[in-house]
Amino acid sequence: MPEQSRSAAAVWSDAEFAQAWLGADPQGPQDLLELPRHMAARLVAEETPQPRLIVDVASGAGKFLSVLLDAFPDAHGVWTDVSDTMLERARTDLARFGDRVDFTVGDMTALRAAGVPDQVDVLVTSRASHHLAGEELRGFYREAGSLLAPGGWLVNLDHIGPEDEMWDKRYRAVRKKFSAPRAATPSHHHNYPLPSEADHLDGYRAAGVSDVDVAWKAFYSCLFIGRAPRSPQS
Ligand SMILES: C[S@@+](CC[C@H](N)C(=O)[O-])C[C@H]1O[C@@H](n2cnc3c(N)ncnc32)[C@H](O)[C@@H]1O
Repeated sequence: MPEQSRSAAAVWSDAEFAQAWLGADPQGPQDLLELPRHMAARLVAEETPQPRLIVDVASGAGKFLSVLLDAFPDAHGVWTDVSDTMLERARTDLARFGDRVDFTVGDMTALRAAGVPDQVDVLVTSRASHHLAGEELRGFYREAGSLLAPGGWLVNLDHIGPEDEMWDKRYRAVRKKFSAPRAATPSHHHNYPLPSEADHLDGYRAAGVSDVDVAWKAFYSCLFIGRAPRSPQS
């Protein structure tokens, strides 16, 4: 397992840490990321009204997967994550989808080895790829892209590292005023600087997905969404 991925996996595999993080994560209307999750579902639905296979990588409790399985009632979902604590929680939170969801534990830098199938119509990940950097991040994108069906969607909702000092200062000054009140989040190690918006867009291109945009952005969080070519020629 590559180094940065290994250290993130170790942190999230600690049951006490993962449970504390889950307890502090905003729910319902307090969760400001519900908007970009629903935006992604709508954007996909416009061009792919009936995706068959949806995969959520580093899915945690399965928040993104829930939104997509509600939006696409005929789709089958694959939940994957490295943490057994998250598996336990996701089995509860996704129970209402019954046998529409398969669960597989594994590392996001080895998706095939983790049991993620190919011909994926929508591959999403959220709040996890910032643990990777450089070649690990590009490698994740390359493998994710290679698992997509023709015309499949690659969606990443994640926190990015600032590229501009002045804007970083401005954002830091105001962003807390817009955050939902939350219990103290347990701190965990990050490799700073986090990958930038440009690093993610490079990753999409490395994955062969050049039809990509940042569909939503708030301070340091971005919704990246891209569509693979519909055929090798297009
Ligand atoms: C901040 S949580 C986000 C969970 C979920 N995607 C969401 O947005 O609600 C980060 C998730 O990434 C998972 N994770 C961290 N490193 C990983 C790795 N190397 N491979 C697979 N999952 C990983 C953690 O177990 C955790 O569930």
